[in-house]
Amino acid sequence: MKKIAFTNQKGGVGKTTSTVNVGAGLSLMGKKVLLIDLDPQANLTYSLKMRTSRLDKTVYSVLKGEADARDVIVPHGDFDLMPASLELSGAELELANEPARECLLRDAIDVLYEYDYILVDCPPNLGLLTLNAFTAVEEVIIVLQSEYLALHGLSKLMNVIEVVQKRLNSNLEVRGIICTLYDNRKNLNREVVGHIREHFGSKVFETVIRDNVALAEAPSHHKTIFEYDDGSHGAEDYLKLAREIRNGY
Ligand SMILES: Nc1ncnc2c1ncn2[C@@H]1O[C@H](COP(=O)(O)OP(=O)(O)O)[C@@H](O)[C@H]1O
Ligand SMILES: [Mg+2]
Repeated sequence: MKKIAFTNQKGGVGKTTSTVNVGAGLSLMGKKVLLIDLDPQANLTYSLKMRTSRLDKTVYSVLKGEADARDVIVPHGDFDLMPASLELSGAELELANEPARECLLRDAIDVLYEYDYILVDCPPNLGLLTLNAFTAVEEVIIVLQSEYLALHGLSKLMNVIEVVQKRLNSNLEVRGIICTLYDNRKNLNREVVGHIREHFGSKVFETVIRDNVALAEAPSHHKTIFEYDDGSHGAEDYLKLAREIRNGY
């Protein structure tokens, strides 16, 4: 069993796309996978079209202690999802005075031993929800857009990870860095990925996720990239990445 959080406090860098499609790739390899949507924008949940009528219980109910993790999990094809809803946006404030407020997710999912992988899609900030994710997992995967300023803000993220390692979760490690939205025709993209590799060495996954329109289209069809266009660059890249993640180095 591996628990992995996909993170970057920037929005629009490919966290949700990576969580969904790495999860789908791992499930294609026969692994039992749970995706947890921990972003109040609930993009992951909506992109898989979990009907809101069925969502009277979400990860929010779990964090508030009003539901057990298993009561909230819904199946989606080959993997399972713990959905989010917009009310999660109130969680940061509402949970601010809870004792051990950073440990709520960890304690709630501790009982889910049936999964090979639990992947957590983080919100685009370093608030209480992200701290809950970092406390609940053993591995963090940082998602970077292959663009100018990709590394901007990364030292702050690393600081937060260090603080969590010291105070909340000594098992936590940075498993790897994904470079996404890569366009080989753009010099700048090549330079940025080169720079990221120079800086982080073998921490950077060999697989780079190319800019691929099918990846942007799949969510509006409520499909993973493998369901939407199995022959696309996006499907090829995410399957390769899922293999790297499964194999370790
Ligand atoms: N490799 C890619 N190629 C093309 N579009 C992508 C790619 N990865 C993500 N996108 C699109 O970019 C936008 C932001 O991606 P998303 O995964 O939602 O980022 P985040 O979760 O970090 O905010 C979405 O519209 C998504 O469909
Ligand atoms: Mg997202």
